[in-house]
Amino acid sequence: MQAAASMSIAPTGAALGAEIRGVDLARDLDSETFGRIEEAFDRHGVIFFRGQTITVEQQIAFARRFGNVEINVNTQACLQGRPEVLLVSNVKENGRYIGLADAGTTWHTDMSAYACPPRCSILHAIEVPRAADGTVLGDTIFASAAAAYDALAPELKSRLEGRRSTHSYLAKMMARKAAVGLTREVTPEHLEKTPPVAHPVFRTHPVTGRKCLYVTEGECIGIDGMAEADAVPLISRLHRHLIDPRFQYRHRWRVGDVLMWDNCTCQHLAVRDYGESLRRLMHRVTVNGSVPF
Ligand code: OGA
Ligand code: MN
Repeated sequence: MQAAASMSIAPTGAALGAEIRGVDLARDLDSETFGRIEEAFDRHGVIFFRGQTITVEQQIAFARRFGNVEINVNTQACLQGRPEVLLVSNVKENGRYIGLADAGTTWHTDMSAYACPPRCSILHAIEVPRAADGTVLGDTIFASAAAAYDALAPELKSRLEGRRSTHSYLAKMMARKAAVGLTREVTPEHLEKTPPVAHPVFRTHPVTGRKCLYVTEGECIGIDGMAEADAVPLISRLHRHLIDPRFQYRHRWRVGDVLMWDNCTCQHLAVRDYGESLRRLMHRVTVNGSVPF
């Protein structure tokens, strides 16, 4: 059992994110320790633990403390025999990607084109690319959708309050394909499982009650009660506001990091600044969430 006394929380100083120190995720966490971690997670949107040596079973067990674990639809990108673990990786074996090589390469929040998007995604860094001069590559940038909501012009807040935006998985994938390219296959089965869905433009965090901007350019194809010609440019404007550097935290990965993000309070972007010869491998476990309101 791991007790809370050794644990401390160090906010990044950015609009979101905190490092949790003094916790070994290979050990069982007592309920007080877990409670403090969960509270920090709900508050900071992104939390991370450095230097973790954990098995996939331990990562899954930690994830289960937050809710039921989701099995990703991209089954060919999951760890063999452990479908709870999605491999986020550019590594190829026998000419084929072992995982998802295009995960997160445009701004997004995970599976927001689903009726019930996940509460959180938990990445364990197994291999992190480095340039010849030692520079770490493959950072992930997070933007606080809560801080972005708070800073929105009052006129926009009242204009969009109570409105819903339509999220399309197909539009998201086509936008990513156009912007950076896709390595996954978008199958008719995926599309059938994810018909377009409407979510509130301003989503409320189920624990803290904070309001969060919940639209993504490319994926959101309209806003209820608004002409497409007005809605699409407005979505782009909201998106540009959301990704303003003042709302961001940029994570520079180290092998052994365990980092998790809240898919309500933040959006994120995988920086694809490394090629095919430098290896990057993350183990991702995803936890189910609740229907956005
Ligand atoms: C993801 C994702 C970002 C990264 O797994 O959902 O967006 O930097 N990953 O790997
Ligand atoms: Mn993602």
